[in-house]
Amino acid sequence: MKNRKQDVGRMSLPCAVTLLSAGMAGKRDAMTATAMFVSEDPPLVVVSVGKNTFSHDLIEKSGEFVLNVAATGQVKLAKILGATHGAKVDKFKKFRVDVQEAESVSAPLIKGSFSHIECKVISSFPVSHYIVYLAGVTACHMDVKKVPLAWHAMKYFSMDREVK
Ligand SMILES: Cc1cc2nc3c(=O)[nH]c(=O)nc-3n(C[C@H](O)[C@H](O)[C@H](O)COP(=O)(O)O)c2cc1C
Repeated sequence: MKNRKQDVGRMSLPCAVTLLSAGMAGKRDAMTATAMFVSEDPPLVVVSVGKNTFSHDLIEKSGEFVLNVAATGQVKLAKILGATHGAKVDKFKKFRVDVQEAESVSAPLIKGSFSHIECKVISSFPVSHYIVYLAGVTACHMDVKKVPLAWHAMKYFSMDREVK
């Protein structure tokens, strides 16, 4: 096995695909991001958001975001939201993203997702070009009929086969 520590983000650590949405005071945005849970009880998650993203600006102002865990039908959306900057364009309008109101935060829920995890930031710290946010889950809804996506080796995978 080769020592390839530079490949950790691309190859050696498969990860969840979320469509992170944020919003406040008439502004909103969504970006593709990975996330992981930190604790089940209390329910805590962590995300790392680039300082140059518009989502970062909205999270800083609102202290909130939603992790819309991407379903297999959202690959195109994950690609688009991960490749466009939302400061000057409303990605929801431009890419015709269907939304609904969240229960506990001002960020919109993205319809068609596997789950919606509503989050409020508890703590944050800078690392390189990113801000790492530790957040508490304030509400969570899941559509068990949908299949979540994973990101591995620069490709999207469907997580619908149990291995025993
Ligand atoms: C699969 C995938 C995962 C990504 N994960 C992250 C992430 O965890 N953190 C991050 O800052 N950017 C991540 N990105 C890149 C952002 O989605 C991208 O910079 C986006 O254009 C930012 O949009 P915004 O400026 O509208 O917020 C990811 C992109 C893809 C395709």
